[in-house]
Amino acid sequence: MILFKKITDLHKWLDVQHKKGHRMGFVPTMGALHYGHISLIEASKKENSFTVCSLFINPAQFNDPNDFTKYPVTLENDIMMLEAAGNDVLFLPSVKEIYPGDKATNIHTNYELGYLETVLEGKFRPGHFQGVCRVVQRLLEIVQPDNLYLGQKDYQQCMVISRLVEILNFDRKINVHICPTVRETDGLAMSSRNLRLNKEERKRATEIYRCLCMIKGNLHQQDLAIIRKEAQTHLEKAGFKIDYVEIADAGNLFPVTIWNGKSQLVALIAVFLNEVRLIDNMLLNQ
Ligand code: PAF
Repeated sequence: MILFKKITDLHKWLDVQHKKGHRMGFVPTMGALHYGHISLIEASKKENSFTVCSLFINPAQFNDPNDFTKYPVTLENDIMMLEAAGNDVLFLPSVKEIYPGDKATNIHTNYELGYLETVLEGKFRPGHFQGVCRVVQRLLEIVQPDNLYLGQKDYQQCMVISRLVEILNFDRKINVHICPTVRETDGLAMSSRNLRLNKEERKRATEIYRCLCMIKGNLHQQDLAIIRKEAQTHLEKAGFKIDYVEIADAGNLFPVTIWNGKSQLVALIAVFLNEVRLIDNMLLNQ
């Protein structure tokens, strides 16, 4: 694996690959890698001549400074995992490289995300998706991939980035691939934030998956509002602080209370387990 810290060095290498007509897959990450990330590398390796993974903890997308300072950093292990997965290039830029001129977090950006930004993660993490768009635009401009790989675990982020790619409308067309959430054997969605859970919290965290399964299992029997309320009560009793438990149209994230029995639904959950915020989702009628 080749590691680049500077855009100019990465560009020299990429130019050669582009001239050879090689197709490139790109996996953006913030590090603290787990098998969920590796599954994206694997998907990219199957469909491209080479794969670039970026590792950059983007200060612009953390609405909570505490979350930023506590974000896990496991660089040595990340490099080992990427090597083992056969990743070709790791782009590991500094904050100055991505945001030259000391403008890491304060710059005003205004991507037209519409309704998507007003609900769920957008509502509970103000400014978060603007920060995500800012860094993803920057990374896409630098890397110029053919294929971009994202994990379904961040369902709304996948929708936001797909919208961003449409807005940016690059000459070189970027295909967005959304890959399934990878789960631990007990169902907990793999996430870098799981590293912050203590043993007892880690055990309790599986309730999120259990709730999603419960929602899916009851879909045809009960009123959606009742299912949602029951899931919420279940999580509250298990000691979670709830940001949201929502059942929505999977295509636009509008909440659904009366289901026509046909449209694709997704259940989305965001909760705090003490200090740690966890999210998960499940497509309900697949
Ligand atoms: O999902 C993430 O890890 C980040 O939001 C991303 C897409 C790498 C942008 O910083």
